[in-house]
Amino acid sequence: MLTKVYGSSVFGVDATTITVEVNIDKGVGYHLVGLPDNAVKESNYRIAAALLNNGYKIPGKKITINMAPADLRKEGSAYDLTLAIGILTASNQIKSNDLDKYIIMGELSLDGSLQPIKGALPIAIKAREEGFEGFILPMENAKEAAIEPGLKVYGVTNISEVISFFDKGTPLEQIIVDTKEEFYKALDFPEYDFADVKGQESIKRCMEIAAAGGHNIILIGPPGAGKTMLAKRLPSILPPMTLHEALETTKIHSVVGKIKNMGLMSQRPFRSPHHTTSSAALVGGGSYPQPGEISLSHNGVLFLDELPEFERRVLEVMRQPMEDREVTISRARFTVTYPSSFMLVASMNPSPGGYFNDPDAPVTSSPAEMQRYLGKISGPLLDRIDIHIEVTPVPFEKLSEDRKGESSVEIRKRVTAARDIQTKRFAEIENVHYNAQMNTKQIREFCTLDVSSKALLKNAMERLNLSARAYDRILKVARTIADLEGVEQVGGNHIGEAIQYRSLDREGWLG
Ligand SMILES: Nc1ncnc2c1ncn2[C@@H]1O[C@H](COP(=O)(O)OP(=O)(O)OP(=O)(O)O)[C@@H](O)[C@H]1O
Ligand SMILES: [Mg+2]
Repeated sequence: MLTKVYGSSVFGVDATTITVEVNIDKGVGYHLVGLPDNAVKESNYRIAAALLNNGYKIPGKKITINMAPADLRKEGSAYDLTLAIGILTASNQIKSNDLDKYIIMGELSLDGSLQPIKGALPIAIKAREEGFEGFILPMENAKEAAIEPGLKVYGVTNISEVISFFDKGTPLEQIIVDTKEEFYKALDFPEYDFADVKGQESIKRCMEIAAAGGHNIILIGPPGAGKTMLAKRLPSILPPMTLHEALETTKIHSVVGKIKNMGLMSQRPFRSPHHTTSSAALVGGGSYPQPGEISLSHNGVLFLDELPEFERRVLEVMRQPMEDREVTISRARFTVTYPSSFMLVASMNPSPGGYFNDPDAPVTSSPAEMQRYLGKISGPLLDRIDIHIEVTPVPFEKLSEDRKGESSVEIRKRVTAARDIQTKRFAEIENVHYNAQMNTKQIREFCTLDVSSKALLKNAMERLNLSARAYDRILKVARTIADLEGVEQVGGNHIGEAIQYRSLDREGWLG
């Protein structure tokens, strides 16, 4: 007897429906065809045990399973449940009339319980598009799949529930999530809040500017100064994600199976890969390319802690994707593209020993050591960082104060207002949405200075010995400061403040 069951395969951030045909005939044997990988081929062991432990069996006959389309590689263990239900039905152990209405997926443990799968959200979206009525999958992925409103999502914990559903009509519990309500409710409760940061008013101001103009930023400071703490809070003051952005981001995290028991992501992602990370982990890779850290931080923040410790070669691979805001990974037979639009926050100690110009420092570094350390980060990546700021630790008295700082939600209101101004400004310009994205021509157009501001900038450039590349960055940041104030004309006070945020361009740093 021939049975058809349906599963799905995820490629990039999109899914394709897989038709699984199971045929049972006289004879013996177990043949799985249609480009399955090893994990799929091994499924018969898991299925055999899971069925036995639930009072069923793989029949001792000739079983042929075909997974179509045949040119698409089928990966992983998520087809266990699909195949098991197909075998039970084809061998008449259960009767299932409505198999064609459902996508069925899940990895089986030997006792029949279900393990989570990857890509539940893209699969659900595809299933709805193709008119399937429901999606049966492991409970852990149910909320994630239920983001797709046009589909009945059934989260199950054991194959026995699926068997009873098809064989006896025992209803499965439908998982329903009010995605929009949960999404908007969560917006006002950021995971990490600037209210927890004591003092550091000038750094908070700086991060507000970075968020407002989408400027990449580097924090320079000794150990324990609070760099990591500050960076983690940046997503909370960026404008709230739109539903569309949230869906895009959630899809990418769904593909790597990182959405455990969670629905739509309402917080912008914050990713902090270790400095020993490989380039494949950073930009994405593998024989079946998975998204890397730059895509997992899409619409959020990528934090590179201890920037000079990263291998230069690894950072180099980020350059193009940073420019394009997406990354394309090519393999012999296909290419896949993942979005990668993120804000970069980097941190570094001011010297390899951790301190700089500090008479009380426990370790000191020689000028040569300093040069080598700082030399590691010079160049193209630094060229894409508009704001440099030095972070000094807050004194103990401040840390022990009870007073709460301004909350992230308050700061975010000002950031959002400044972003609205930019959205209007760049409405007609393709690929430019905020100040950090302006090219030289646009800077000339939108950051015009009056005579006295021009003189101020010229004077500062000479006096502080600022490099030429600092010039455009200062103008962009000054534009953002003016936007935060809600004024059209960039003035001397905006320029003056922006100049302060170029620490690494000054003499004595990168020279
Ligand atoms: N301004 C502050 N307000 C409240 N707590 C702070 C502040 N600064 C530092 N801390 C406390 O000090 C701890 C260390 O800060 P954090 O890890 O962010 O420092 P860091 O600059 O990243 O240091 P490292 O260079 O060692 O990574 C924080 O977890 C926090 O508890
Ligand atoms: Mg840190």
